[in-house]
Amino acid sequence: MKLNRRTLTTLALAAASLASLLPGTALAQKKVVLGFAQVGAESEWRTANTESIKSAAKEAGIELKFSDGQQKQENQIKAIRSFIAQKVDVIAFSPVVESGWETVLREAKAAKIPVVLTDRSVNTKDDSLYVTFMGSDFVEEGRKAGRWLVEKMKDQKGEVNIVELQGTVGSAPAIDRKKGFEEIIKADPKFKIIRSQTGDFTRAKGKEVMEAFLKADGKKINVLYAHNDDMAIGAIQAIEEAGLKPAKDITIISIDAVKGAFEAMMAGKLNVSVECSPLLGPQLMTAVKDIKAGKPVPKRIVTEETIFPMEVAAKEFPKRKY
Ligand code: AHR
Repeated sequence: MKLNRRTLTTLALAAASLASLLPGTALAQKKVVLGFAQVGAESEWRTANTESIKSAAKEAGIELKFSDGQQKQENQIKAIRSFIAQKVDVIAFSPVVESGWETVLREAKAAKIPVVLTDRSVNTKDDSLYVTFMGSDFVEEGRKAGRWLVEKMKDQKGEVNIVELQGTVGSAPAIDRKKGFEEIIKADPKFKIIRSQTGDFTRAKGKEVMEAFLKADGKKINVLYAHNDDMAIGAIQAIEEAGLKPAKDITIISIDAVKGAFEAMMAGKLNVSVECSPLLGPQLMTAVKDIKAGKPVPKRIVTEETIFPMEVAAKEFPKRKY
């Protein structure tokens, strides 16, 4: 039977409307499936990042399989293996630590499933193991923190004793934020990091470690450099409980610029927060669609960010999205 053009168009329209009425059937267009292995829920930043990914997937019509790694690499590896077994279209993940991913990434490559790194990168010589890495420049964030401190203390004559609350041991932001900060402050020997310990990016740990710093060095401490806002907020509690004034007796610098940090700045308890945007969801969904469509995707997509000193906090706060 020969069908004319008008009949073919009518049939196509009927099939399309039937597909929309019967989601989940073979007639409906197959949704792109994305497996996402998240680090955990350790911070206000991470909660905003998870929310951004979930809402962007919904908006883009992408089916999201989401796994919370509870800050454990073994959980994330298990999740990635399960995504491979389920034959998802694309795998994305934010690696809790930098090293130890080669084996599982080779498994994804062998299964021909493209991988996108979001927020944190991996330490590998073989960059064919992932399509793109999107997220902040953590070394630059550390440099911004260092530059702010150098400027703030430019007239200070004596030593500046710094305590540092590091992020998760072995994670890209902890390694890079330390590196960038040290690169700047080493230009002047008056800056001394007298203690440096991990607070695992959490408020509870930030408080606990700051209590130990205060017990050991007390009034000797001039500056706290925290690798994220949550640890700084925990440390602020410890400083107040020790009878000292945060942001006055001890200058406090942190990273993320989440709403909690703005509230601390507006209360006069935090001096500055370097921005690190968690709103990676829309960018990720665009990349997933482009990869599926066979379009080229840049190997590195860097997030644009700034720095917020306490003086601008009240003005900026209403504009904050996370
Ligand atoms: O990888 C980004 C970092 O992870 C954020 O600075 C921190 O808050 C989070 O836990």
